[in-house]
Amino acid sequence: MKRIGVIGCGLRADGYLQELKSGMGKEWELAALADPKPLAIETYLKIYGHPGLRVFADGPEMLKAMPEELDAVIIASPNAQHLEALLPALERNLIVMLEKPVATTVEDCRSMWDAYVKAGYPPLAVGFVLRYTAFYRKAKEIIDSGAIGQVMSIEAAELLGPPLTSVFTRGWRRKNGVAGSFLLEKCSHDMDILNCLAGAPAVSVSSFGKRTVFVPKPEAAMHCRDCRWQENCRYSAGNIAPYLMNTPRRDELGALIPQHEDLCVFNSDKDVPDHQVVNVAYENGVLAAFTLCMDQPVNARTLRVNGSEGQICGDIGREELYVTYHRRSIGEELPVERVPLLHDNSSHHGGDSVLVDQLKAMLRGEDVAPLAGLREGVEACMVALGAERSLAEGRIVEVERLS
Ligand SMILES: NC(=O)c1ccc[n+]([C@@H]2O[C@H](COP(=O)([O-])OP(=O)(O)OC[C@H]3O[C@@H](n4cnc5c(N)ncnc54)[C@H](O)[C@@H]3O)[C@@H](O)[C@H]2O)c1
Repeated sequence: MKRIGVIGCGLRADGYLQELKSGMGKEWELAALADPKPLAIETYLKIYGHPGLRVFADGPEMLKAMPEELDAVIIASPNAQHLEALLPALERNLIVMLEKPVATTVEDCRSMWDAYVKAGYPPLAVGFVLRYTAFYRKAKEIIDSGAIGQVMSIEAAELLGPPLTSVFTRGWRRKNGVAGSFLLEKCSHDMDILNCLAGAPAVSVSSFGKRTVFVPKPEAAMHCRDCRWQENCRYSAGNIAPYLMNTPRRDELGALIPQHEDLCVFNSDKDVPDHQVVNVAYENGVLAAFTLCMDQPVNARTLRVNGSEGQICGDIGREELYVTYHRRSIGEELPVERVPLLHDNSSHHGGDSVLVDQLKAMLRGEDVAPLAGLREGVEACMVALGAERSLAEGRIVEVERLS
């Protein structure tokens, strides 16, 4: 039976453990938990506790205390703490499920890559769930089939509806420095998808970001409870609360679910932009343009891939793609193919369960190559970190490369 340690007992790790539930106690067992927050440990013990389960205050301590007793580790601590957990895990040749973004600095990215190479490339998957969705897998398959010819450009966007906008304007993620940056934390997924669809190394990147909507409003109060606009504001704590009622596993995880205090989304001390654009140039001539925008009616991820022989277009929420080809003769109706995709409402449009299937195969010792490993994790970070440097320095920057 494979023994798993969890580093970072928050919402994300709980998602993995739920997906692994069917094999728990049979094929694998939860052997250790590491988290500095007593409430997190307490909550996990209530849900997953059993007599042999050991608990620690952080990942390195756990790996030091259990040098031979673990086979695999799930690293779902905050982004800047991934490196400290990953290095000892690699030294022990453990199977690793590592959350995105893999790191928050170029230096950490390089240190983890060097350690990974030194460890002989042990089985490691990065939590890039979009890679595992039917939507992006089909887009990649169409591109690789050559059906749309040579890819020239990619347009993609991530749009944030009110609940997600609230998370990034009043929750801890409102501060750029805490999780790396807004782009890195929210969109390292999307940078990875651009890299994957472009199919070549990213060479240079530029970015603009602005905050124009969520700027201070002197007529509003600092807290919704004191604000006379609260009934009419779509971001007031009262108007956001109904969305939170739908948070999965609300009852079990209780206080681990971030509380959306009633801090004003306009007057809060945030430093994230509320809209940002990123342009990436790839070695094979593909150019990509990505838009990130808060305050939209609904969450959405859109994609358009423009090729020499056709164009792929879709929105992940609609579970279908359209491929438009050139007319073969003048007067012919434009050939448009609708590609239906299996509608999957489960977590991350079905990406989570497919990713965990991959993790299960790794735990069983099968020789599987995850769709996104450490190289992909680092390369996505390098694009996002390059974009942030471009934004800060007001110039086009070269994307850092792995050797
Ligand atoms: N792949 C995805 O789609 C996806 C979705 C959500 C979150 N994530 C990623 O998962 C990670 C965790 O996010 P979350 O939403 O579960 O956050 P969370 O705040 O719910 O959980 C993080 C936990 O880590 C603990 N922690 C802090 N420092 C630690 C340390 N040094 N060692 C061990 N634990 C430590 C915290 O106390 C907390 O309990 C982040 O990297 C995040 O970006 C990925």
